[in-house]
Amino acid sequence: MYRIVKAKQLAEKIWLMDVEAPRTARSCEPGQFVIVKIDEKGERIPLTICDYDREAGLVTIVFQEVGASTHRMAQMREGDAFEDFVGPLGRPSELIGEDPEALKQQKILFVAGGVGTAPVYPQVKWMKAHGAEADVIVGAKTKDLLILEEEMRREAGNLYITTDDGSYGRGGMVTDAIRDLVENQGKHYDRCVAIGPVIMMKFVCLLTKELGIPTIVSMNPIMVDGTGMCGACRLTVGDEVKFACVDGPEFDGHLVNFDEAMKRQQMYRTQEGRAMLKLMEGETHHGGCGYCGGDK
Ligand code: NAD
Ligand code: FES
Repeated sequence: MYRIVKAKQLAEKIWLMDVEAPRTARSCEPGQFVIVKIDEKGERIPLTICDYDREAGLVTIVFQEVGASTHRMAQMREGDAFEDFVGPLGRPSELIGEDPEALKQQKILFVAGGVGTAPVYPQVKWMKAHGAEADVIVGAKTKDLLILEEEMRREAGNLYITTDDGSYGRGGMVTDAIRDLVENQGKHYDRCVAIGPVIMMKFVCLLTKELGIPTIVSMNPIMVDGTGMCGACRLTVGDEVKFACVDGPEFDGHLVNFDEAMKRQQMYRTQEGRAMLKLMEGETHHGGCGYCGGDK
């Protein structure tokens, strides 16, 4: 069992938990994720890692209540425990594998949208710990939905906050802030890392393509096994079929087919949709998840 040592509400329907998971804490890196299960019959919920403390054996997760399982998770308190906490899964962020000295020479812009601020945070923290401060834009619908502001302010070189309704920071979306920084404030960026809702990542990528800034995105489609077996998290990146859980979750944002990813996400929710996906994707569908009848 994996005990919750801290449970804190960050905003409406958004929760942070520190969970005792020493093995995961020892080996996880920014960009990776875990799959949690409340109990034996519980749904498998993939969540990107927000922080970790190797010595204390703790992993921090942040989640949004969106369905029955995350609603149940939100009722859990300090002392409660998860039956399963599997990870780290996926590949660490591209930046983690690079020479910190070379990274210090680059200007990197992180763009975090809503709950996507949680997976951005450990990357920004890692950069600072290696002497490479980054600019960070955090976007939220409204002031009350902004999360991890203090933490991000501590780790970012410059922090720019946007709210869609203008209730805090700059009014407008993250894309407005990117354009303003580059076109009006003379900022130059060698790379951008954008994590948030798929629609945000799509529009950030359209803009950074126009501005000539290579961009990494972190995809979080529906996942079932998290080990590349079931095909739930399939994406098209360039001309290739990729599986977010084992090939990602980070990909070159200028190559991701976001429209297909959004459509697939919708279709995967129903049995009929899953059957249709199986027909459409044929052998590359990766059957056998037990959800869609896959390879039967
Ligand atoms: P949200 O809808 O509040 O959006 C956050 C910000 O994204 C907005 O403030 C805005 O600045 C920007 N944005 C949204 N639509 C945009 C558009 N069309 N053009 C430009 N910018 C746009 O975010 P939320 O409600 O916190 O998002 C929840 C979603 O994020 C869920 O679907 C969840 O699955 C996803 N999510 C993704 C990741 C990931 O790893 N990619 C991590 C956590 C959550
Ligand atoms: Fe990625 Fe199953 S969750 S293949």
